[in-house]
Amino acid sequence: MTTPHLAAKPGDIADIVLLPGDPLRAKLIAERFFDNPQCYNEVRGMYGFTGSYKGRRVSVQGTGMGIPSISIYAHELMATYGAKTLVRVGTCGAIQAQVGLRDLVVAQAASTDSSLISTRFKGMSFAPTADFDLLRRAWQSAVSRGFNVHVGNVLSTDTFYDEEPDAWKLWARYNVLALEMEAAGLYTLAARHGARALAVLMVSDSLVTHQKLSPDERQTGFVDMVTAALDAAIAE
Ligand code: HPA
Repeated sequence: MTTPHLAAKPGDIADIVLLPGDPLRAKLIAERFFDNPQCYNEVRGMYGFTGSYKGRRVSVQGTGMGIPSISIYAHELMATYGAKTLVRVGTCGAIQAQVGLRDLVVAQAASTDSSLISTRFKGMSFAPTADFDLLRRAWQSAVSRGFNVHVGNVLSTDTFYDEEPDAWKLWARYNVLALEMEAAGLYTLAARHGARALAVLMVSDSLVTHQKLSPDERQTGFVDMVTAALDAAIAE
């Protein structure tokens, strides 16, 4: 059986799945890191590949941007294909002065301005939380690779172009480290499906200093980050 958005056959997808937002990054990760990568999905250009990394079968699946998009892929991966370990690898915008470009933010928790999760919980607040084991392994692996690593709360926002340019400052006052657009959706669904989830994010820009990485810096930093995320994901 396939799903509306994934053309994979049962068994085509590993129980460990890396989740970049950009499908071309999924292709890059498969080509760069996997032995014998097989493409199992091209529906909507949202590439998915399975291969092996250090002898362990792993998959990588593009998710698109935002909680609605990642929720579709995460649901189908867990409910139909049996994914059990899901690690988002993406970029984020820093909203604290001490969080610099190319640093890593490991999202221990993910707040959100999205109504999707509060609607699911009838207006009450669920606290989307990372899996502790994945979190500690990713932190260890990233520190040992020389990254400056911050662990804490991120904001999964629905709005990239906010009409109010200072809207992020409310979250910054509550020690939220960075903005991204998917982790809260992933963590919530993983909890529902009894799976483990984590988001590892490289800082690509800063709302505090208005600096941003060049495309080249983004690419090399991203590849280094993926190594840390993969090592955390495959650890027994
Ligand atoms: N906002 C939301 N998501 C992001 C940003 C941002 O500034 N930078 C990278 N991902």
